[in-house]
Amino acid sequence: MPIPERLNPMFASSLPVAAAPPDPMEQARRRLIVALDVPNAAAAIKMVNQLEPSCRWFKVGLELFVAAGPAVIEPLVARGHSIFLDLKFNDIPNTVAGAVRSAASLGVRMMTIHASGGPAMLAAASEALEGMPSPPLLLAVTVLTSMDQAQVNVVGLNRSPAEQVELLARMGLGVGIRGFVCSPHEVSSLRTITGPEGVLVIPGIRPAGGESGDQKRIATPAEALRLGASYLVVGRPITQAADPLDAAEAILKEMAEAIQNQE
Ligand code: C5P
Repeated sequence: MPIPERLNPMFASSLPVAAAPPDPMEQARRRLIVALDVPNAAAAIKMVNQLEPSCRWFKVGLELFVAAGPAVIEPLVARGHSIFLDLKFNDIPNTVAGAVRSAASLGVRMMTIHASGGPAMLAAASEALEGMPSPPLLLAVTVLTSMDQAQVNVVGLNRSPAEQVELLARMGLGVGIRGFVCSPHEVSSLRTITGPEGVLVIPGIRPAGGESGDQKRIATPAEALRLGASYLVVGRPITQAADPLDAAEAILKEMAEAIQNQE
């Protein structure tokens, strides 16, 4: 599948407007994805109302999608937001291909499948999008950011999380996948493997001194960008803050400084 450059912030031409992005803060806004991990559509709309002055991307994951269904996506798209549908499909190739087609029809711009579903499943998912006018970018989830070495071993893998991420990424690249989700701890080695064409979407982001929750392999927003992240996914540090907009602004400011330092 061709790389949708419009979704790759490593290329200026991928940005939604033709001109170079106006300033590092605007670039930061285009690279922050807020995880709407809330229990229903009303809570999602309330959160988006609060955050939309600053945020451009929202992630709809299992909690919200299972409660509210696909209908939750349409009003967000209609308001001009970019939606990342994070349902992490993992099933037989035919079933995943059908689910990917259904998801693409919702107007989302990114979506996830599990790399551990194997090359046949990844290839079927890619093929399902062929010929669509503006297909979402398929992201292969490597190893969940909540998995540390002990968790990885318990599910029968005798590798480190880093080795497993690399193995899955190379497998994905082999069947044409160009977008990956990994923890901040692997982003640098994955960037080396994918080059600038790779779209690396990184959860497990915690501002310095923040609560880690169930996340194990974490980094600050600035560190993750420095290491090569294309997009950062942030949930609880924003959505559970006393003032979510303030929390988002603080993260965006840190991201903008890191972007400026890279220029
Ligand atoms: O609240 P927090 O910032 O930890 O949220 C991270 C989000 O990223 C969650 O919605 C989670 O499902 C998602 N995610 C993750 N690790 C992955 C893939 C997605 O934490 N490997």
